[in-house]
Amino acid sequence: MKTTEVTEGIFRLSANVEDILFEGIWPIPNGVSMNSYIVKGTKAAIVDGVCDWDGVPQTLYDQLDRMQIDINDLDYVIMNHLEPDHSGWFRSFLQLRSDVTVITSEKGAELVKHFYGYEGDIRAVKTGDTLDLGEGRVLLFAEIPNVHWPETIATYDTKSKTLLPCDAFGSFGSIGEKMYDDQLDEQELAFFEQEATRYYANIVGPFSAFVQRAIDKLKDIEIKIIAPGHGIVWRRNPAKIVGDYIRYASYSKGPAKTDVTVLYASMYGMTARGIDPVIEGLRSEGVTVHVHRLPEAPWGDALASVWQSSGVVVAAPTYEYKMFPPMAALLEELGRKKALNRKAFSFGSYGWSGGAQKELAEITERNRMNWDFLEPVEFRGAPTSEHLELIRQRGKELAVKVTEWVAASPAS
Ligand code: FEO
Repeated sequence: MKTTEVTEGIFRLSANVEDILFEGIWPIPNGVSMNSYIVKGTKAAIVDGVCDWDGVPQTLYDQLDRMQIDINDLDYVIMNHLEPDHSGWFRSFLQLRSDVTVITSEKGAELVKHFYGYEGDIRAVKTGDTLDLGEGRVLLFAEIPNVHWPETIATYDTKSKTLLPCDAFGSFGSIGEKMYDDQLDEQELAFFEQEATRYYANIVGPFSAFVQRAIDKLKDIEIKIIAPGHGIVWRRNPAKIVGDYIRYASYSKGPAKTDVTVLYASMYGMTARGIDPVIEGLRSEGVTVHVHRLPEAPWGDALASVWQSSGVVVAAPTYEYKMFPPMAALLEELGRKKALNRKAFSFGSYGWSGGAQKELAEITERNRMNWDFLEPVEFRGAPTSEHLELIRQRGKELAVKVTEWVAASPAS
Protein backbone atom coordinates (compact mmCIF):
# COMPACT_ATOMS: atom_id res chain seq x y z
CA MET A 1 0.00 0.00 0.00
CA LYS A 2 1.18 3.48 -0.86
CA THR A 3 2.18 5.96 1.80
CA THR A 4 0.61 9.30 0.94
CA GLU A 5 0.76 12.85 2.20
CA VAL A 6 -2.54 13.85 3.80
CA THR A 7 -1.42 17.46 3.92
CA GLU A 8 1.95 19.17 4.25
CA GLY A 9 3.86 17.34 6.99
CA ILE A 10 1.28 14.64 7.75
CA PHE A 11 1.60 11.22 6.12
CA ARG A 12 -0.81 8.31 6.09
CA LEU A 13 0.37 4.73 6.57
CA SER A 14 -2.12 1.90 6.59
CA ALA A 15 -2.68 -1.84 6.60
CA ASN A 16 -5.79 -3.69 5.45
CA VAL A 17 -6.97 -6.71 7.39
CA GLU A 18 -9.39 -9.26 5.94
CA ASP A 19 -10.62 -12.77 6.69
CA ILE A 20 -10.84 -12.22 10.44
CA LEU A 21 -13.62 -11.60 12.91
CA PHE A 22 -13.06 -8.04 14.07
CA GLU A 23 -12.83 -7.93 17.87
CA GLY A 24 -13.12 -11.71 17.60
CA ILE A 25 -16.85 -11.45 16.84
CA TRP A 26 -17.76 -9.20 13.88
CA PRO A 27 -17.47 -10.46 10.30
CA ILE A 28 -15.83 -7.92 7.99
CA PRO A 29 -16.72 -9.15 4.49
CA ASN A 30 -15.07 -6.09 2.93
CA GLY A 31 -12.11 -5.96 5.31
CA VAL A 32 -10.99 -3.01 7.39
CA SER A 33 -8.08 -0.60 7.23
CA MET A 34 -6.00 0.40 10.20
CA ASN A 35 -4.51 3.83 9.66
CA SER A 36 -1.47 5.34 11.23
CA TYR A 37 -0.12 8.84 10.70
CA ILE A 38 3.32 10.39 10.80
CA VAL A 39 3.24 14.04 11.84
CA LYS A 40 6.45 15.98 11.24
CA GLY A 41 7.86 19.23 12.52
CA THR A 42 11.49 19.34 13.56
CA LYS A 43 10.41 16.39 15.68
CA ALA A 44 8.33 13.47 14.44
CA ALA A 45 5.41 11.65 16.00
CA ILE A 46 3.58 8.54 14.93
CA VAL A 47 -0.10 8.71 15.78
CA ASP A 48 -1.79 5.35 16.33
CA GLY A 49 -0.67 2.22 14.59
CA VAL A 50 -1.81 -1.18 13.49
CA CYS A 51 -2.67 -4.52 15.06
CA ASP A 52 -0.08 -7.23 15.69
CA TRP A 53 -1.73 -10.01 13.67
CA ASP A 54 0.15 -12.09 11.12
CA GLY A 55 2.99 -9.81 10.26
CA VAL A 56 0.83 -6.69 9.94
CA PRO A 57 3.33 -4.51 11.86
CA GLN A 58 5.88 -5.30 9.14
CA THR A 59 3.68 -3.42 6.64
CA LEU A 60 4.05 -0.38 8.88
CA TYR A 61 7.82 -0.73 9.05
CA ASP A 62 8.04 -1.26 5.26
CA GLN A 63 6.09 1.94 4.72
CA LEU A 64 8.40 3.82 7.09
CA ASP A 65 11.37 2.45 5.12
CA ARG A 66 9.87 3.68 1.86
CA MET A 67 9.49 7.12 3.43
CA GLN A 68 13.13 6.84 4.52
CA ILE A 69 12.10 7.30 8.15
CA ASP A 70 14.29 5.44 10.55
CA ILE A 71 12.43 4.04 13.51
CA ASN A 72 14.96 5.86 15.69
CA ASP A 73 13.83 9.17 14.18
CA LEU A 74 10.44 8.93 15.86
CA ASP A 75 10.37 11.15 18.91
CA TYR A 76 6.85 10.35 20.07
CA VAL A 77 4.35 7.53 19.85
CA ILE A 78 0.90 9.07 20.32
CA MET A 79 -1.67 6.50 21.38
CA ASN A 80 -5.12 8.01 21.02
CA HIS A 81 -6.72 4.69 21.93
CA LEU A 82 -5.26 1.54 23.39
CA GLU A 83 -7.44 -1.11 21.76
CA PRO A 84 -4.89 -3.46 20.20
CA ASP A 85 -6.15 -2.98 16.63
CA HIS A 86 -4.26 0.34 16.90
CA SER A 87 -1.68 -0.33 19.59
CA GLY A 88 -0.81 -4.01 18.93
CA TRP A 89 2.22 -3.12 16.80
CA PHE A 90 3.83 -1.47 19.85
CA ARG A 91 4.92 -4.89 21.12
CA SER A 92 7.17 -5.36 18.09
CA PHE A 93 8.23 -1.69 18.18
CA LEU A 94 9.63 -2.24 21.67
CA GLN A 95 11.87 -4.97 20.30
CA LEU A 96 13.35 -2.43 17.88
CA ARG A 97 13.78 0.39 20.39
CA SER A 98 12.76 1.01 23.96
CA ASP A 99 13.34 4.69 24.68
CA VAL A 100 10.44 6.39 23.01
CA THR A 101 8.10 8.88 24.67
CA VAL A 102 4.51 7.68 24.65
CA ILE A 103 1.75 10.30 24.68
CA THR A 104 -1.65 9.15 25.82
CA SER A 105 -4.33 9.92 28.41
CA GLU A 106 -3.95 9.09 32.11
CA LYS A 107 -6.14 6.01 31.65
CA GLY A 108 -4.24 5.14 28.48
CA ALA A 109 -0.97 5.19 30.45
CA GLU A 110 -2.30 2.39 32.66
CA LEU A 111 -3.08 0.26 29.63
CA VAL A 112 0.30 0.85 27.98
CA LYS A 113 1.76 -0.83 31.05
CA HIS A 114 -0.82 -3.61 31.25
CA PHE A 115 -0.88 -4.51 27.55
CA TYR A 116 2.80 -3.99 26.73
CA GLY A 117 4.66 -3.91 30.05
CA TYR A 118 6.17 -0.57 29.05
CA GLU A 119 7.77 1.27 31.97
CA GLY A 120 9.56 3.96 29.97
CA ASP A 121 8.61 7.59 29.39
CA ILE A 122 4.82 7.90 29.28
CA ARG A 123 3.25 11.35 29.30
CA ALA A 124 -0.40 11.57 30.22
CA VAL A 125 -2.26 14.44 28.54
CA LYS A 126 -5.59 16.08 29.29
CA THR A 127 -7.96 18.17 27.22
CA GLY A 128 -6.22 21.38 26.22
CA ASP A 129 -2.65 20.08 26.62
CA THR A 130 -0.32 20.65 23.67
CA LEU A 131 2.84 19.20 22.19
CA ASP A 132 5.13 21.38 20.09
CA LEU A 133 6.82 19.42 17.30
CA GLY A 134 8.63 22.50 15.96
CA GLU A 135 8.24 24.39 12.66
CA GLY A 136 4.96 25.82 13.92
CA ARG A 137 3.37 22.41 14.34
CA VAL A 138 1.64 22.30 17.70
CA LEU A 139 -0.59 19.37 18.54
CA LEU A 140 -3.61 19.88 20.77
CA PHE A 141 -5.22 17.00 22.68
CA ALA A 142 -8.83 16.44 23.69
CA GLU A 143 -10.19 13.63 25.82
CA ILE A 144 -13.09 11.92 24.06
CA PRO A 145 -13.86 9.10 26.54
CA ASN A 146 -15.72 6.02 25.31
CA VAL A 147 -15.23 6.76 21.65
CA HIS A 148 -14.51 4.00 21.78
CA TRP A 149 -12.86 3.08 25.13
CA PRO A 150 -12.65 5.18 28.32
CA GLU A 151 -9.04 6.23 27.70
CA THR A 152 -9.55 7.66 24.20
CA ILE A 153 -8.18 11.05 23.17
CA ALA A 154 -8.18 12.89 19.84
CA THR A 155 -5.10 14.63 18.48
CA TYR A 156 -5.50 17.89 16.53
CA ASP A 157 -2.80 19.51 14.45
CA THR A 158 -3.26 23.26 14.86
CA LYS A 159 -1.08 24.02 11.82
CA SER A 160 -3.07 22.14 9.19
CA LYS A 161 -6.30 21.92 11.22
CA THR A 162 -6.28 18.14 10.87
CA LEU A 163 -8.14 16.02 13.43
CA LEU A 164 -6.79 12.54 14.18
CA PRO A 165 -9.66 10.99 16.20
CA CYS A 166 -8.82 7.25 15.98
CA ASP A 167 -12.10 5.25 16.04
CA ALA A 168 -14.38 8.28 15.80
CA PHE A 169 -15.53 8.93 12.22
CA GLY A 170 -14.08 5.60 11.09
CA SER A 171 -15.54 2.86 8.92
CA PHE A 172 -15.03 -0.73 7.90
CA GLY A 173 -13.87 -1.48 4.35
CA SER A 174 -10.38 -2.12 3.04
CA ILE A 175 -8.77 0.80 1.25
CA GLY A 176 -7.20 0.51 -2.18
CA GLU A 177 -5.39 3.16 -4.16
CA LYS A 178 -7.94 5.82 -3.32
CA MET A 179 -7.98 6.79 0.36
CA TYR A 180 -9.29 10.38 0.33
CA ASP A 181 -12.89 11.50 -0.08
CA ASP A 182 -11.74 13.88 -2.83
CA GLN A 183 -10.63 10.86 -4.90
CA LEU A 184 -13.87 8.88 -4.61
CA ASP A 185 -16.93 9.00 -6.85
CA GLU A 186 -20.49 8.87 -5.54
CA GLN A 187 -20.72 5.09 -5.71
CA GLU A 188 -17.45 4.63 -3.83
CA LEU A 189 -18.54 7.13 -1.18
CA ALA A 190 -21.85 5.25 -0.83
CA PHE A 191 -19.87 2.03 -0.25
CA PHE A 192 -17.94 3.64 2.60
CA GLU A 193 -21.10 5.14 4.06
CA GLN A 194 -22.58 1.65 4.27
CA GLU A 195 -19.34 0.34 5.79
CA ALA A 196 -19.34 3.25 8.27
CA THR A 197 -22.90 2.42 9.30
CA ARG A 198 -22.04 -1.23 9.97
CA TYR A 199 -18.86 -0.22 11.79
CA TYR A 200 -20.81 2.23 13.92
CA ALA A 201 -23.58 -0.24 14.77
CA ASN A 202 -21.16 -3.07 15.54
CA ILE A 203 -18.47 -1.14 17.44
CA VAL A 204 -19.46 2.35 18.56
CA GLY A 205 -23.26 2.12 18.94
CA PRO A 206 -23.48 1.63 22.74
CA PHE A 207 -21.46 4.80 23.23
CA SER A 208 -23.70 7.06 21.15
CA ALA A 209 -24.19 9.56 23.98
CA PHE A 210 -20.39 9.87 24.22
CA VAL A 211 -20.12 10.33 20.44
CA GLN A 212 -22.51 13.26 20.66
CA ARG A 213 -20.55 14.66 23.63
CA ALA A 214 -17.26 14.35 21.73
CA ILE A 215 -18.74 16.15 18.73
CA ASP A 216 -20.00 18.92 21.01
CA LYS A 217 -16.56 19.18 22.65
CA LEU A 218 -14.84 19.57 19.27
CA LYS A 219 -17.37 21.96 17.74
CA ASP A 220 -15.36 25.13 18.37
CA ILE A 221 -12.27 23.76 16.66
CA GLU A 222 -11.92 24.50 12.95
CA ILE A 223 -11.51 21.13 11.28
CA LYS A 224 -10.31 21.05 7.67
CA ILE A 225 -9.35 17.37 7.56
CA ILE A 226 -10.47 14.30 9.50
CA ALA A 227 -7.98 11.45 9.40
CA PRO A 228 -9.46 8.52 11.36
CA GLY A 229 -7.93 5.25 12.50
CA HIS A 230 -10.14 3.22 10.13
CA GLY A 231 -11.44 4.09 6.68
CA ILE A 232 -11.03 7.00 4.33
CA VAL A 233 -9.60 10.43 5.12
CA TRP A 234 -12.04 13.32 4.82
CA ARG A 235 -10.29 16.20 3.12
CA ARG A 236 -12.90 17.68 0.82
CA ASN A 237 -15.94 17.45 3.09
CA PRO A 238 -15.18 16.48 6.71
CA ALA A 239 -18.61 17.82 7.72
CA LYS A 240 -20.16 14.87 5.86
CA ILE A 241 -18.79 12.20 8.20
CA VAL A 242 -19.49 14.37 11.28
CA GLY A 243 -23.11 14.71 10.12
CA ASP A 244 -23.30 10.98 9.45
CA TYR A 245 -22.02 10.19 12.95
CA ILE A 246 -24.55 12.58 14.53
CA ARG A 247 -27.26 10.72 12.58
CA TYR A 248 -25.93 7.26 13.55
CA ALA A 249 -25.82 8.32 17.20
CA SER A 250 -29.44 9.51 17.00
CA TYR A 251 -30.50 6.07 15.70
CA SER A 252 -29.77 4.60 19.13
CA LYS A 253 -32.88 6.22 20.60
CA GLY A 254 -34.71 6.41 17.28
CA PRO A 255 -36.38 7.02 15.09
CA ALA A 256 -33.96 5.89 12.41
CA LYS A 257 -34.91 5.51 8.74
CA THR A 258 -38.40 4.63 7.51
CA ASP A 259 -37.18 1.02 7.33
CA VAL A 260 -38.28 -2.20 9.01
CA THR A 261 -35.96 -5.11 9.68
CA VAL A 262 -37.49 -8.58 9.73
CA LEU A 263 -35.46 -10.95 11.91
CA TYR A 264 -36.70 -14.50 11.58
CA ALA A 265 -35.86 -18.08 12.47
CA SER A 266 -37.77 -21.27 11.73
CA MET A 267 -37.18 -24.89 12.74
CA TYR A 268 -39.58 -26.74 10.42
CA GLY A 269 -40.98 -23.94 8.27
CA MET A 270 -44.08 -23.08 10.35
CA THR A 271 -42.92 -19.64 11.51
CA ALA A 272 -41.38 -19.04 8.07
CA ARG A 273 -44.84 -19.21 6.49
CA GLY A 274 -45.60 -15.84 8.04
CA ILE A 275 -42.66 -14.07 6.42
CA ASP A 276 -44.14 -13.35 2.98
CA PRO A 277 -47.42 -12.06 4.47
CA VAL A 278 -45.65 -9.74 6.94
CA ILE A 279 -43.40 -8.38 4.18
CA GLU A 280 -46.44 -7.86 1.98
CA GLY A 281 -48.17 -5.92 4.75
CA LEU A 282 -45.09 -3.79 5.42
CA ARG A 283 -44.50 -3.01 1.74
CA SER A 284 -48.15 -2.10 1.19
CA GLU A 285 -47.34 1.08 3.16
CA GLY A 286 -44.17 1.83 1.25
CA VAL A 287 -41.53 1.16 3.92
CA THR A 288 -38.20 -0.39 2.99
CA VAL A 289 -37.87 -3.94 4.35
CA HIS A 290 -34.67 -5.81 5.22
CA VAL A 291 -34.83 -9.53 5.97
CA HIS A 292 -32.31 -11.56 7.98
CA ARG A 293 -32.74 -15.25 8.74
CA LEU A 294 -31.03 -16.62 11.83
CA PRO A 295 -28.73 -18.30 12.51
CA GLU A 296 -27.42 -17.96 8.93
CA ALA A 297 -27.30 -14.15 8.76
CA PRO A 298 -24.08 -12.56 10.03
CA TRP A 299 -24.82 -10.74 13.28
CA GLY A 300 -22.96 -7.67 12.07
CA ASP A 301 -25.35 -7.25 9.13
CA ALA A 302 -28.47 -7.91 11.20
CA LEU A 303 -27.35 -5.45 13.86
CA ALA A 304 -26.53 -2.74 11.31
CA SER A 305 -29.91 -3.30 9.69
CA VAL A 306 -31.80 -2.90 12.98
CA TRP A 307 -29.68 0.14 13.84
CA GLN A 308 -30.91 1.93 10.69
CA SER A 309 -34.53 0.74 11.04
CA SER A 310 -37.28 2.33 13.09
CA GLY A 311 -39.28 -0.91 13.09
CA VAL A 312 -38.43 -4.54 13.82
CA VAL A 313 -40.31 -7.79 13.24
CA VAL A 314 -39.18 -10.65 15.47
CA ALA A 315 -40.43 -13.97 14.09
CA ALA A 316 -39.21 -17.06 15.95
CA PRO A 317 -40.59 -20.30 17.33
CA THR A 318 -40.58 -21.52 20.89
CA TYR A 319 -37.65 -23.86 21.58
CA GLU A 320 -37.39 -25.78 24.86
CA TYR A 321 -40.02 -23.49 26.46
CA LYS A 322 -38.08 -20.37 25.48
CA MET A 323 -37.24 -18.32 22.42
CA PHE A 324 -35.29 -20.00 19.63
CA PRO A 325 -31.73 -19.53 21.00
CA PRO A 326 -30.03 -17.68 18.10
CA MET A 327 -32.85 -15.12 18.14
CA ALA A 328 -32.62 -14.73 21.93
CA ALA A 329 -28.86 -14.19 21.67
CA LEU A 330 -29.18 -11.58 18.92
CA LEU A 331 -31.87 -9.72 20.86
CA GLU A 332 -29.60 -9.64 23.92
CA GLU A 333 -26.86 -8.14 21.76
CA LEU A 334 -29.26 -5.55 20.32
CA GLY A 335 -30.01 -4.58 23.92
CA ARG A 336 -26.34 -4.27 24.80
CA LYS A 337 -25.74 -2.18 21.69
CA LYS A 338 -28.60 0.09 22.77
CA ALA A 339 -30.88 -0.25 19.76
CA LEU A 340 -33.69 1.37 21.76
CA ASN A 341 -37.26 2.55 21.25
CA ARG A 342 -38.17 0.52 18.14
CA LYS A 343 -41.71 -0.07 16.91
CA ALA A 344 -42.05 -3.85 16.83
CA PHE A 345 -44.18 -6.88 16.13
CA SER A 346 -43.53 -10.53 16.95
CA PHE A 347 -45.02 -13.82 15.86
CA GLY A 348 -44.09 -17.49 15.91
CA SER A 349 -45.06 -21.11 16.20
CA TYR A 350 -45.05 -23.48 19.20
CA GLY A 351 -45.76 -27.18 19.62
CA TRP A 352 -46.70 -28.03 23.23
CA SER A 353 -46.32 -24.81 25.08
CA GLY A 354 -45.38 -21.24 24.27
CA GLY A 355 -42.43 -19.50 25.86
CA ALA A 356 -40.84 -17.46 23.08
CA GLN A 357 -42.97 -14.38 23.74
CA LYS A 358 -42.28 -14.56 27.48
CA GLU A 359 -38.54 -14.62 26.94
CA LEU A 360 -38.78 -11.84 24.35
CA ALA A 361 -40.45 -9.65 26.99
CA GLU A 362 -37.79 -10.61 29.57
CA ILE A 363 -34.92 -9.69 27.24
CA THR A 364 -36.34 -6.36 26.14
CA GLU A 365 -37.25 -5.40 29.72
CA ARG A 366 -33.91 -6.50 31.20
CA ASN A 367 -32.04 -4.43 28.62
CA ARG A 368 -34.46 -1.49 28.96
CA MET A 369 -34.96 -1.49 25.23
CA ASN A 370 -38.40 0.10 25.38
CA TRP A 371 -39.60 -1.58 22.16
CA ASP A 372 -43.23 -0.73 21.47
CA PHE A 373 -44.83 -4.05 20.39
CA LEU A 374 -48.09 -4.62 18.56
CA GLU A 375 -50.12 -7.56 19.87
CA PRO A 376 -48.18 -10.73 18.97
CA VAL A 377 -49.52 -13.59 16.85
CA GLU A 378 -48.72 -17.07 18.18
CA PHE A 379 -49.99 -20.29 16.66
CA ARG A 380 -49.79 -23.93 17.63
CA GLY A 381 -48.09 -25.90 14.84
CA ALA A 382 -48.82 -24.47 11.40
CA PRO A 383 -50.46 -21.05 10.95
CA THR A 384 -53.99 -21.04 9.57
CA SER A 385 -55.04 -18.69 6.78
CA GLU A 386 -56.58 -16.48 9.50
CA HIS A 387 -53.23 -16.30 11.29
CA LEU A 388 -51.48 -15.38 8.05
CA GLU A 389 -53.99 -12.64 7.30
CA LEU A 390 -53.54 -11.29 10.84
CA ILE A 391 -49.78 -11.27 10.37
CA ARG A 392 -50.19 -9.37 7.09
CA GLN A 393 -52.42 -6.81 8.82
CA ARG A 394 -49.97 -6.39 11.69
CA GLY A 395 -47.19 -5.78 9.15
CA LYS A 396 -49.26 -3.02 7.60
CA GLU A 397 -50.04 -1.57 11.05
CA LEU A 398 -46.35 -1.60 11.98
CA ALA A 399 -45.43 0.18 8.75
CA VAL A 400 -47.98 2.91 9.50
CA LYS A 401 -46.62 3.38 13.04
CA VAL A 402 -43.05 3.60 11.74
CA THR A 403 -43.96 6.09 9.03
CA GLU A 404 -45.85 8.31 11.47
CA TRP A 405 -43.03 8.17 14.02
CA VAL A 406 -40.38 9.16 11.50
CA ALA A 407 -42.60 11.91 10.08
CA ALA A 408 -43.12 13.37 13.57
CA SER A 409 -39.37 13.47 14.26
CA PRO A 410 -37.81 16.98 14.14
CA ALA A 411 -34.97 15.54 12.00
CA SER A 412 -37.28 14.33 9.24
FE1 FEO B 1 -10.36 0.60 16.29
FE2 FEO B 1 -11.69 0.68 19.43
O1 FEO B 1 -10.43 0.30 18.14
